Amino acid sequence: MKITIIGTGYVGLVTGACLAELGNDVFCLDVDKSKIDILNNGGIPIHEPGLEEIVARNRAAGRIRFSTDIEASVAHGDVQFIAVGTPPDEDGSADLKYVLAAARNIGQYMTGFKVVVDKSTVPVGTADRVSAALREELTARQSHADFSVVSNPEFLKEGAAVEDFMRPDRIVIGCDSSAQGDKARSMMKKLYAPFNRNHERTFWMDVRSAEFTKYAANAMLATRISFMNELANLADHVGADIEAVRHGIGSDPRIGHSFLYAGCGYGGSCFPKDVQALERTAQDYGLNLLILNAVEAVNARQKQILGNKILKRFDNKLVGKHFAIWGLAFKPNTDDMRAASSRVLLGELLRSGATVAVYDPVSMAEARRVFELDFYDAPELLDAIRYASSPMDALDQADALAIVTEWKAFRSPDFDQLKARLKQPVIFDGRNLFDPTVMNELGIEYHGIGRSV
Ligand code: NAD
Ligand code: UGA
Repeated sequence: MKITIIGTGYVGLVTGACLAELGNDVFCLDVDKSKIDILNNGGIPIHEPGLEEIVARNRAAGRIRFSTDIEASVAHGDVQFIAVGTPPDEDGSADLKYVLAAARNIGQYMTGFKVVVDKSTVPVGTADRVSAALREELTARQSHADFSVVSNPEFLKEGAAVEDFMRPDRIVIGCDSSAQGDKARSMMKKLYAPFNRNHERTFWMDVRSAEFTKYAANAMLATRISFMNELANLADHVGADIEAVRHGIGSDPRIGHSFLYAGCGYGGSCFPKDVQALERTAQDYGLNLLILNAVEAVNARQKQILGNKILKRFDNKLVGKHFAIWGLAFKPNTDDMRAASSRVLLGELLRSGATVAVYDPVSMAEARRVFELDFYDAPELLDAIRYASSPMDALDQADALAIVTEWKAFRSPDFDQLKARLKQPVIFDGRNLFDPTVMNELGIEYHGIGRSV
């Protein structure tokens, strides 16, 4: 099928590449020329395992192309995926300006019937706004071209995006019940047929329920994390091990094991903004979502937990102290630094007068860019950051190591070398990578999250 993807970021590029891999003819559009140039020069603008190979293979086969040409992109696809960003507005609601601009672009150039798919995460009711924007543009140029707006939210995780897209747990598609909606449903059915070969993974529903499902999923996952983080903080006080508790409750199939890892808070581009946007939607209807208010507040506090533990351990005196941080990205296998907990910890340490050596396997360049923005009001603090060349290099003469991201490369370090390089063997582990008993036997002072047994 002929597919256009509007917005070639994480979701757009993965969607485009994977649909091309399945044999579709894909046109990827972005307004950011630098991204398109990277892609046309054989690179990819993000770190995502497996993506580069798929993009290269399909470009070579002529099944995917990248462009900034809006008119050509609208002409190409019978199905037009909108996969642009929906960042938080000042009041926390999802800012729809990119989504609506994309819709208007389609309306300005479309001729025949188009299925317009909202792939971006958008609040309930957005499909109606997208339809209105399209209709307005068509009316302005007296066009009778027809369309149907479909909601098809994306559930992929960064770092496992290709795998998640190619082997989805479920595909959620919301269509309306008009004749155009029926036409759109059958086109979406054909497009997603390869995913449903062994068993049906698609959940068909109305448009609003599909839009809502996306927020409900992210809010549920964020809730589980904040719940476990709150219990972990209590475990620290009562002398229980949150990891043992996690196993103990996760084995109940009604609870399950996933997304119960306590840590130094959730980050990324999605949980923080989607929890906020859902709260904001509720407020628009005069409702106050008490659970989600708490989820957000617990997470904000949890991002400070490593800084607080370090301050407490060093009697609030960090001037002249030096720390190592392992892991800067908001999670492993990505270079994404959006809402990463490392940024909160680094700010706390630097503003308290410490110096810091940081290391991340892939996000060093992105981290430099982001830290320059974070400390624009105190550029002298940037001089207190050293960008290390390896995990071990980061440790030299540090008063303690703080672990923020659970990269595989950090899981089995050479502890003898680690101890020799640190000024004193102290670890603050924001992702509970190590067994406290083993750390004790190795003579390492170990501070996990909820592990003070
Ligand atoms: P992103 O910022 O990586 O990419 C968005 C892209 O859209 C950018 O390259 C931008 O230049 C481009 N763009 C903006 N306006 C445009 C326009 N009018 N025409 C063409 N291109 C335009 O964003 P993302 O992380 O891919 O997220 C996109 C959406 O998908 C968001 O709503 C997000 O919540 C949702 N989502 C993201 C993930 C994820 O893991 N990143 C997962 C599921 C859902
Ligand atoms: C999340 C969802 O998992 C995806 O299904 C969704 O599509 C996506 O948001 C989105 O809407 O954009 P992502 O943000 O890429 O995906 O990453 P996650 O693996 O969910 O991790 C998010 C954050 O939660 C990370 O900071 C991670 O460290 C933290 N986390 C995760 C925990 O603290 N504990 C856990 O048990 C799991």
